[in-house]
Amino acid sequence: MGKYIVRKSGPLRGEVTISGAKNAVLPIMAAALLSDEECTINDAPALLDVDILCQLLESLGASVDKDLSSNIVKINAEKIMTSEASSKLVKQMRASILVMGPLLARTGRAVIPLPGGCAIGDRPVELHFKGLRALGAEIKVSMTGIVKAHVDKLRGAEIYLDFPSVGATENIMMAASMAEGITIIENAAQEPEIVDLANFMNKMGAKIKGSGTDTIKIEGVKHLHGCQHTVIPDRIEAGTFMLAAAITRGSILLKNVEVDHVKPVIAKLKECGVDIVILEDGSMVVKGDSRPLTSTDIKTLPYPGFPTDLQSPFMALLTTVSGNSAVIETVFENRYMYVKELQKMGAKIKTQDRAATIKGAKKLKGAKVIATDLRAGAAMVLAGLVAEGETEVSEVHHIERGYEHFVEKIRALGGDIEKVDD
Ligand code: UD1
Repeated sequence: MGKYIVRKSGPLRGEVTISGAKNAVLPIMAAALLSDEECTINDAPALLDVDILCQLLESLGASVDKDLSSNIVKINAEKIMTSEASSKLVKQMRASILVMGPLLARTGRAVIPLPGGCAIGDRPVELHFKGLRALGAEIKVSMTGIVKAHVDKLRGAEIYLDFPSVGATENIMMAASMAEGITIIENAAQEPEIVDLANFMNKMGAKIKGSGTDTIKIEGVKHLHGCQHTVIPDRIEAGTFMLAAAITRGSILLKNVEVDHVKPVIAKLKECGVDIVILEDGSMVVKGDSRPLTSTDIKTLPYPGFPTDLQSPFMALLTTVSGNSAVIETVFENRYMYVKELQKMGAKIKTQDRAATIKGAKKLKGAKVIATDLRAGAAMVLAGLVAEGETEVSEVHHIERGYEHFVEKIRALGGDIEKVDD
């Protein structure tokens, strides 16, 4: 599987081009199941998660033509041979649950193992079920954790989500797009990835309005056709490189970044003293070398709040700035697993329930640490770039699930990182 060796590096400098968004491409690929014609997805990042979903779609009968060296994935789900998702693949990626809505819409049936808990909390899926049941699906979960869903005819409904779940909003949107009548999702997730999915599906002929707000209206149609779509830039990868500039007190030019999508990160980094300049062509310069950086407080929230996926990389930065900071995680119940890894590097962090306090200005030192999850892995790499000596990050397959060419991109900016065999 490999591990990363990260050594103390100088300030990162240069430019980086942000890849297509992992969290946008996955639902879009699942939505390609809704059509019996070919869909072409551009800017699909070469990631482990994209690979796994390609395999899952193929196992359902879709033909998938993946050229990740040019970031193009073509999916043709003319024939769906089975509605049963392989447990081996589903277990490797939680987002596999996203095939449930499209399978119900296309075949009236979906059998899928329950994607279990993970390192950042329990991550239940009852809101997905609540929405699909409201559309008429009968859903049963067996003692062994297999979800069996079927429906004769999906019918539009009004659905209120108790929490604006990203995945539930996406699953319901996909099922509702081919239901009879109108569906309204209230308290819907407003993430940019939801808007990208809606834009993709509207190109397929779906009638979705209001994505990006808390109320989404979907008028069901009988048939969706193939289309071409380019995935939005990854705002979490962009945020990670913004933080790389800040933590190393460097200066990085980010290309292919959607400035509106990273507003909360811009705001918080500015509070720390980072300079951010938006250029005329939309690219962004992030300068961590203008003045000494100071503390700030972070509270993670659904979009447009501060993204939970950047909580751990931001925590790494906060250990290095002067003053004390506070972090509150409101989206996931258990997203501080990685803190003990940063503590191994000398970070002074205390956690209680969903709150963390960070004593800044710590000189981090290299250590053997584990990438406990995808974003925590990125946090370890950022910390390793400024820690004295050498940091060994293991379980990097988590990082490779979500960051395209991570090692190469950091090296191009002057970071001392290499991948070695275990
Ligand atoms: C997506 C992202 C993930 C990000 C998260 C929150 C993808 C592939 N993944 O995950 O990177 O961290 O959004 O921004 O897009 N919940 C329930 N019941 C449900 C569904 C969710 O209680 O039925 C809870 C979860 O346990 C969690 C919170 O809602 O505490 C957020 O989950 P959700 O928005 O659904 O995240 P995902 O779609 O899984």
